[in-house]
Amino acid sequence: MADTQNEDRRRFLDAVLTFGFVSTAVAVVYPVARYLVPPASEEPATASAVAGKSTAIAVNSGVVFKFGTKPGIVVRDPRGELHAFSAVCPHLGCTVQYRPDTSDIWCACHNAVFDVEGAIVAGPPPRPLERLTVNVRGGDVVVSRG
Ligand code: FES
Repeated sequence: MADTQNEDRRRFLDAVLTFGFVSTAVAVVYPVARYLVPPASEEPATASAVAGKSTAIAVNSGVVFKFGTKPGIVVRDPRGELHAFSAVCPHLGCTVQYRPDTSDIWCACHNAVFDVEGAIVAGPPPRPLERLTVNVRGGDVVVSRG
């Protein structure tokens, strides 16, 4: 009779200890796994945006506009052609701007310079500006990805 009671107590204690061990393991592993696995993108990539009226972008000027959650830049070069890029500097993410006096795109953070095609002229960026597609529709400058 005493052996049966001891065995029942042992099984009960084993179950309690196992439950405690498993609970502790889950409490440790779950947050670590959530930290290591990146969440799915919260916002789909923006497909297109209107940067403004075509007539509002003068020759040899640039306009920074909102392209989804990030800035974009439309440049009308000295020849009158439109170009669009992500305005996020590929170095460390500052917003670039157009400089009419030198007709280039400049990042003030580390003095990077890009030409009106988005190519690197000077500075530390590892790659050119991300090019976007630009079209004029009904007087609006429509910028799209791809
Ligand atoms: S962030 Fe633009 S040059 Fe460094």
